[in-house]
Amino acid sequence: MEKLIVHGGTTLKGSVTISGSKNSSLPILAATLLTKDVCTIRRVPDLSDTNYMTLILAELGAEVERASGVVVVEAKNIKSTAPYELVRKMRASICVLGPLTGRLREAKVSLPGGCVIGDRPVDLHLKGLEGLSAVVTVDGGDIMVDAKAGLKGAVINLMGKHGSTVLGTDNVMMAAVLAEGTTVIEGAAAEPEVEDLANFLIKMGAKIEGAGTSRIVIEGVKELHGAEHTVIPDRIEAGTFLCAGAMMSSGLTLKRVAPEHMKAVLQTLEGCGFPMEIGKDTITIHPNPNAKGFDLTTQVYPGFPTDMQAQFCALACAINDTSTITETIFPQRFMHVAEMKRMGANIDLQGATARIRGVEKLKGAPVMASDLRASAALALAAIKAEGKTDILRLYHIDRGYEHLDDKLSELGADVQRVKE
Ligand code: UD1
Repeated sequence: MEKLIVHGGTTLKGSVTISGSKNSSLPILAATLLTKDVCTIRRVPDLSDTNYMTLILAELGAEVERASGVVVVEAKNIKSTAPYELVRKMRASICVLGPLTGRLREAKVSLPGGCVIGDRPVDLHLKGLEGLSAVVTVDGGDIMVDAKAGLKGAVINLMGKHGSTVLGTDNVMMAAVLAEGTTVIEGAAAEPEVEDLANFLIKMGAKIEGAGTSRIVIEGVKELHGAEHTVIPDRIEAGTFLCAGAMMSSGLTLKRVAPEHMKAVLQTLEGCGFPMEIGKDTITIHPNPNAKGFDLTTQVYPGFPTDMQAQFCALACAINDTSTITETIFPQRFMHVAEMKRMGANIDLQGATARIRGVEKLKGAPVMASDLRASAALALAAIKAEGKTDILRLYHIDRGYEHLDDKLSELGADVQRVKE
C-alpha cells in the first residue's frame, strides 16, 4: 500500500486542468455493452475505478483498448454474469446491470457490499427493473435479472427516502432504451452525469427526453449502434481544487471546467467572500483572509453535492468563523471528522450535522484515508497544516482523482507518494 507524505504550509499558485468526470465515465463505459458496434469514449480519467470498469467489460467479453484518456470498446459477444471478484472492488460496477438486462434480457451481478459512507442499498435499481417487467431475485449474494419474457416500458418512480438515485436512474435508463414501448422515470436523478450518459445513449440511437430533470421519458428502440463521446469535466475534482485555492493559494485557475454544473458550490464560495472570476470553461479563485463561515446542507442536484462536503469541512477549518454542514444524502458520511480532529480541527458532530469552528493552525499528524472524498479533504487539510502529515491508504484517492499528487505538486504543494 502507498501513503502520501505532505509537508504543509506551502502556498499554491498557477493553473490546473480538470480531468474528465469519474461519475460520468463509469456508466458511459457500462453503456458500451448495449451495442455490438465499436464505441469510443474520450477524456476518461486514469483512475483505479475506471480501470476496474474496463476490466469488468473485458471479463464480460468486450474488447477494450485504452490509451491516453481514450477508451475504445467493442462488445460484440458478451456474457451476462459479472463476477464477484471484480464487482466487490467497486460499488459502481452495479451499473452494468441495466445494460446487460437491456441487451441480453438477463443479468447476474454480485450485490455490492456496504461501504464506509453507509449501507448503500440497491432496492430502487431493482424496483426500476421490475417496473420494466423483469423478474428480479437476490440469492447467494447475487442479483439475478430475468427479462426473457420481454422488457416493457412503464411509468416508474425512483424517488427514495434520501432523494433520487444516480446509478439507479442510470440503470433503469440503460435497460429502458431497449425495452418495448415508452418508459417514464419519475423522481429521476438530475445530476449532470445522468444527462451526459443520456447524451451518449442518444448518440447511440436511443430516444430520450428530459435527462437532467426529474422526469425522463424514454421510447424504446430495437437496437443501438456505436458512437463517440467526450465525457464532461469532473465537477467534484474541480470543486476540490477550488477549496484548495480558497484555503492556501495566491490565486488558482481551473481550466477545462464546467461552471454551469457547479452553481451550488460556487454560490457557497461566493457567500464566504472568496473572489472568483468565472469564464466559459475556466474559474479563478483568490483567497480572502476575512472570509465568512457557511451553512450548507447536502442535497440532490442542483443542490450542494454530498461528494463535496468533506472538502468544505477542511475549508471551514481554515475560515476564522463558524460553519455548519448537514448531510442528508449519506447521513453517516463523516469519517473525515475524527481524522481532522487529530490535526487540531475544532468540529462538533451531532447526528448528521457538523459544526466547525475555524482554527488558527491545523497541525500535521498521521491520518487514515477512509473513503474517496474524505481522503481528498485530508490532503487539503494536510497542505494547510503546519508540519508533516502522513495520509495512509492512498488507494482511496486513486479511485477518483486523476494524478492528484502530481497536480498538487505542480501547484507548489510538497507531497510525496511512498510505500507504507
Ligand atoms: C452516486 C455517485 C456518488 C455520489 C452519489 C450521491 C457515481 C458512480 N457515484 O452514487 O459519488 O455520492 O451518487 O450523489 O455516480 N439509495 C437507496 N436505494 C437505492 C439506491 C440509493 O435508498 O437503491 C439511497 C442511498 O443510500 C443514498 C441516496 O439514495 O442515501 C443516494 O444514493 P445514489 O444516488 O444511488 O448514489 P450512487 O448512485 O450509488
